[in-house]
Amino acid sequence: MNAPVSPADTLRAALAGLLDGLPPRQAAQAVDRLIANYRGRTPTDAPVLRDRADVVAYAAYRMPATFEAVCAALEAFADAVPGWVPTGHVDVGGGTGAATWAVSATWDGERPVTVLDWAEPALALGREIAAANPALKAAEWHRARIGSALSIETTDLVTVSYVLGELTEDDRAHVVGAAAAAAQAVVIVEPGTPDGYARVIEARDRLIEAGFQVAAPCPHSAACPIVPGEDWCHFSARVSRSSLHRQVKGGSLAYEDEKFSYVAAARFPVAPAASRVVRRPQIRKGQVLLELCGPDESLHRETVTKRHGPLYRAARDTDWGDAWPPLTEEG
Ligand SMILES: C[S@@+](CC[C@H](N)C(=O)[O-])C[C@H]1O[C@@H](n2cnc3c(N)ncnc32)[C@H](O)[C@@H]1O
Repeated sequence: MNAPVSPADTLRAALAGLLDGLPPRQAAQAVDRLIANYRGRTPTDAPVLRDRADVVAYAAYRMPATFEAVCAALEAFADAVPGWVPTGHVDVGGGTGAATWAVSATWDGERPVTVLDWAEPALALGREIAAANPALKAAEWHRARIGSALSIETTDLVTVSYVLGELTEDDRAHVVGAAAAAAQAVVIVEPGTPDGYARVIEARDRLIEAGFQVAAPCPHSAACPIVPGEDWCHFSARVSRSSLHRQVKGGSLAYEDEKFSYVAAARFPVAPAASRVVRRPQIRKGQVLLELCGPDESLHRETVTKRHGPLYRAARDTDWGDAWPPLTEEG
């Protein structure tokens, strides 16, 4: 019997298919244009993704990374809300639909899905790719501008992935407010940069003000202990590089690491991690050094040595972004 194909594999195949027939030079030029358009021009007053070449470039070049980052955020969120499964999903600024694929990879089954974006070519391509995913076949792709007039239909889960950085301060407030008003759970993902983190913290504050509890990555809904300007909370997701990636970025590395910041919050009771590993663990001879964000609103280092027995073995398997101590089957 063949193993079931995961949404991640289906997405990879669908994205590879997009480049069939597109001369490699043309694809690489479209990526260059896209990067140039994004550089220094945000927020924009018109969509950056203007035509099919732009969105094919975005989908082939960036979507695998945004998909993996959202998957990682949703996985941490799902761990904090065991048993909860969204009965509906709205992806705001969804573009080609990376977060819809990530939701379908996190929770089995079908649910009403709506993608909102102001770039029609992105929605059209998203719809085309989604035809390969049974959970997304019925998804609706609507043109909508994020602004004071934005209204989001009532749903269980709203995602806002790699969007806040393209918005004005007012529009960032509008979209987070509209998400909080519409949903039981909101997941926001941004690039793992100091600015991306600052936008995540701003959104986190708004969600808490709106009555949400933080489910991940934070162990609590109190203030973040990181001093702005000194550090930023971010994580890393491994992304297989497509042939387009290798072509554009050169080199032969089979993967790259996407850095991202995120917040996942809910209106219902959540069970956040006791502590969160906020740096790549350092494995030394006979010990593992863990940088942790703890429940007491502080950052601290824990050294787990061989003397700790099973905990030491668990520490060796623990990754940046994981809950600590590790979750057991019982949660
Ligand atoms: C970097 S892409 C992220 C797409 C997708 N969420 C992902 O994670 O791959 C940003 C998206 O936000 C959309 N966007 C930016 N500003 C917008 C606005 N004011 N109204 C609606 N969509 C907007 C863009 O069209 C684009 O699809």
